[in-house]
Amino acid sequence: MKQVKIGILGAGTVGSSLIKIIEKEKQRILQNHGLEIVIQKVGDRSYQKKEFLKNYNSTSNLEEVVDDSEIDIIVELLGGIEPAFSLLNQSLNNQKSIVTANKALLANKGKEIFEKVKELQKKNPKITIGFEASVGGALPIIKNLRRVWSFGQIQSLIGILNGTCNFIISRFEEGMEYEKALKIAQEKGFAEADPSFDISGKDAGQKLAIISSLAFGCWLEETQIQIEGIEKIHKIDFEIANKNNMKIRLLAISKKIQQKLLLRVHPTLIPRNHLLSDVRDEFNALLVEEEYSGITMIVGKGAGGFPTASAVLSDIVSIASGSSNLWFYDFSSYSLIEDGEYKFYLRFQTVDRTGVLAFISKILAENQISIASMHQEEGEEPVNVIIFTHTCKESSIYKAISQIDQNREIILSPTTIIRVF
Ligand SMILES: NC(=O)c1ccc[n+]([C@@H]2O[C@H](COP(=O)([O-])OP(=O)(O)OC[C@H]3O[C@@H](n4cnc5c(N)ncnc54)[C@H](OP(=O)(O)O)[C@@H]3O)[C@@H](O)[C@H]2O)c1
Repeated sequence: MKQVKIGILGAGTVGSSLIKIIEKEKQRILQNHGLEIVIQKVGDRSYQKKEFLKNYNSTSNLEEVVDDSEIDIIVELLGGIEPAFSLLNQSLNNQKSIVTANKALLANKGKEIFEKVKELQKKNPKITIGFEASVGGALPIIKNLRRVWSFGQIQSLIGILNGTCNFIISRFEEGMEYEKALKIAQEKGFAEADPSFDISGKDAGQKLAIISSLAFGCWLEETQIQIEGIEKIHKIDFEIANKNNMKIRLLAISKKIQQKLLLRVHPTLIPRNHLLSDVRDEFNALLVEEEYSGITMIVGKGAGGFPTASAVLSDIVSIASGSSNLWFYDFSSYSLIEDGEYKFYLRFQTVDRTGVLAFISKILAENQISIASMHQEEGEEPVNVIIFTHTCKESSIYKAISQIDQNREIILSPTTIIRVF
């Protein structure tokens, strides 16, 4: 039997679930892995208010945890960039392995942390980092990217990486309006009181930065990803998608195209028979296209205390039993595709007057955008005019729409733009 001592920073949703699983599964971990996990210390600013911590050596002084010489692995479950970054740095300086679920940290400071781990491994190969829980909760994405899909070239990653957005999208599909869908998501614990981080696509963008870095062997940051959220799509877009045999999903996409990377998060119209169209509610999914394994899809619960804690625990067990993956890429750099080419769905909200369609199509034509189909929905003002385009450049679409939307006498609300897969 081997004993491993851990220090936990942050005993919130994930931290408290981790403590519960470790206690409940003590015997099984011992039996299956020959490992006794000892929670040596817990650091949390409000530890005195947390009844479940009364039997643990707890402190609000987080440095006391990372400086404890008995501790082998520091598990960071605080969230945010600071003080998490400094504390993990200090843990590494103290020759401890680290485990984190913190996507914000890795999407902004990942390169520094990984380079430090790599440097330390030259003298002490046991030091490593586990970050399975930072993307997709319990979905085994990171381990598979580091092992199973690490032999051939990865061509693309296409993910539904934010459960809050996917839950709201599923309610839209049932005919619900945004406010009600959000309220239900909050009541069920799928959305934060301030949902803007999820709704804006930022959360999915941070996760895409982490997995694309692993997939393509270059460290990417959140700021390099073009991100659009679900704020501008409405119930009517789902009705129109349905009439056209399509679904809308917030997709996080990274693709290698002729040695350049395309990195995007945006709402996307996909055919109803696409693999990702059946991923509903709070579920997450990732489609991976790799040279040897072909297309693989992983689906599951991408968040929540217990799913995320189970991924954290799997990292602790892997590191403690010495089976954690120790390799790191020599990160190369790719240039990014700034101006992608897509087919687009455009929904204009216009006055009900002659000349509107001529006005819109003239500006589209001036910007080299060719129309595949045009349709006007029945109803009172504002009238919905729907256009599907042929393939064109993103920059042309955004330029044309900004010109069209300036005409407030004809266009009554900002135009909805959705890429078509
Ligand atoms: N929840 C999920 O479903 C999920 C899924 C995947 C990944 N993650 C990641 O897991 C990490 C933890 O998330 P969570 O949902 O467990 O967050 P949480 O519920 O807010 O827990 C964070 C805990 O850390 C404490 N804390 C935060 N900053 C601190 C500081 N500076 N000093 C001392 N204590 C501090 C908080 O204390 P207070 O109670 O006083 O605020 C709280 O107890 C985040 O990086 C998150 O992105 C979470």
